[in-house]
Amino acid sequence: MSARVVSLQGVSKDYGETPVLTDITWSISSGARYVVLGSSGSGKTTLLSMLGLLLRPSAGKVVVHGEDVWQWPEKQRAAWRTAHLGYVWQDAGLLPELTLLENVNLPLHIRGVPRSQWNGRDLLERVGLGKRLSAYPHEVSGGEGQRAGLARALAGSPKLVLADEPTGSLQRKQSEAVCELFLELQAELQFGFVVATHNEALLRYLDAEPLWIFDGRLHNKPPREEML
Ligand SMILES: Nc1ncnc2c1ncn2[C@@H]1O[C@H](COP(=O)(O)OP(=O)(O)OP(=O)(O)O)[C@@H](O)[C@H]1O
Ligand SMILES: [Mg+2]
Repeated sequence: MSARVVSLQGVSKDYGETPVLTDITWSISSGARYVVLGSSGSGKTTLLSMLGLLLRPSAGKVVVHGEDVWQWPEKQRAAWRTAHLGYVWQDAGLLPELTLLENVNLPLHIRGVPRSQWNGRDLLERVGLGKRLSAYPHEVSGGEGQRAGLARALAGSPKLVLADEPTGSLQRKQSEAVCELFLELQAELQFGFVVATHNEALLRYLDAEPLWIFDGRLHNKPPREEML
């Protein structure tokens, strides 16, 4: 039922001299629900970028359908990303010159989905922004922008949603609301997710398996000094 979507096999990443991630082996299935916790600079964005086929590892393989995706031409990786993945970024990542509706429909436009099947309007209604379809990103609040970012990530009905500090710019109440909405949508649409954050509170809001990233590796327990 929950097919494997993407796997990291012995993946390491360094930027020049600096090793960031070391020998990570991890398979994500379509039913995955993970929260990856780690302090600033621990490698969360690096990890998500590799899971998202956006960043090439220094060693090891990123595997999809049994194949090393970095042996594929970029066009094939891009097609796979748009077909199967949704991304939520810390600052929502909305394009400032497009309205919320245009932003949410953009991935469908890129995928060549016929206009009659664009579901941006429904998704924005679903996240409570049905009345702000033609607003521009600078005209909405941080929380509204994040909700629009969530709608955009879901526009292509992805199997897996990768969310990098999805509530990083929000106050506690807004964070909680965005997480609640995220869970509701997950139950409805059945996508897997990996949420990366430095905010342990998200563990309470999201019903997910926690993983900690430190010393360049993934662990199923927090680092000792933070256990108190
Ligand atoms: N393009 C790059 N060139 C050089 N070093 C980089 C680059 N991107 C990230 N790094 C370094 O790699 C480490 C991990 O960065 P990463 O962005 O993955 O951390 P993070 O856990 O997402 O941090 P934050 O919580 O601040 O977003 C950091 O030390 C960072 O300075
Ligand atoms: Mg980051």
